[in-house]
Amino acid sequence: MNRSKELNKDRIIWASTRSVLESLKFKSKRGGSKSKSRWTLFEKLLSVFVFFLKITGYYKIGLGNAMYNELTEVTLEFDDLPEVLEGYKIIHLSDLHLDTIAKTEVYIVDKIKDLKYDLCVITGDYRKNDSGRFIHVIKPFKYLVDHIHARDGIWAVLGNHDSYMMVDYEEDLAPLKFLINEDVVLDMEGVKFTITGTDDPFSYFTDKAIFALEKAEGDFKIALVHTSELHDIASENNYKIYFCGHTHAGQICLPGGIPLITHQKDGRKYLKGLWKDGKMYGYTSAGNGVSGVPLRFNTFGEVVLITLKKKTINPINN
Ligand SMILES: [Fe+2]
Repeated sequence: MNRSKELNKDRIIWASTRSVLESLKFKSKRGGSKSKSRWTLFEKLLSVFVFFLKITGYYKIGLGNAMYNELTEVTLEFDDLPEVLEGYKIIHLSDLHLDTIAKTEVYIVDKIKDLKYDLCVITGDYRKNDSGRFIHVIKPFKYLVDHIHARDGIWAVLGNHDSYMMVDYEEDLAPLKFLINEDVVLDMEGVKFTITGTDDPFSYFTDKAIFALEKAEGDFKIALVHTSELHDIASENNYKIYFCGHTHAGQICLPGGIPLITHQKDGRKYLKGLWKDGKMYGYTSAGNGVSGVPLRFNTFGEVVLITLKKKTINPINN
């Protein structure tokens, strides 16, 4: 595989900063640093839980759940939607964790192969672990990318499970492009459609993520962030849609989809599905894969298909 030799200056500065952050025993969060040690305790508790599931026969059921993705179709209505975006379709993938369960990429492709869409966005987490090797996920990731046919591209951000070095494999994953505290403006018949992607704010937050959301300009802006943690910044800066994941919708839930652990402090509002912050829509994907254990209970992964629509005004109410 050929590594890209065209990393620009900002990318080089970002990579050196994130390489340091990845080596620390602390997460860099918006509110300050936080110990990573809680995750070690969590993994120990998980292994006891998995043992219990295996001896009771529930493990196979959880594995079957984890290998299934639902199709979630959502229509978002806007008062001021430019005409060129009427009916525009965006497919949202997240939390692929391609090495947790073999052939994860195949069941995602099976779900998307008959869909029609204009754009694909992916909100991070491509491997199971949050450190160590990642090269082995490039091949299944490429398989997935080769089966995504989006006229306006495939745009992705990193999650807290990803290595900064993965961005070096952007050429191998073409036409996928990473957005790392960057934005891209797509000209749609004179309408500036802006996609801003930030670095992961769950473990590797820097002010550059906020600056990226603040400086991007456009007529219709969407934000890609691994977690919901920057929703207020995006809303204040007139983004129309905020795409995120990270929570896996709880992954292991009680009946009714009540999660045992959410891995976020943003509150239940941002745990899964559609939400609003001011005028901005947000969508927290349940993810396509799983991490920690290859299991889901009382929740499924999802392929999200968003359709944009101009809000129709009922003349009787005017
Ligand atoms: Fe994840």
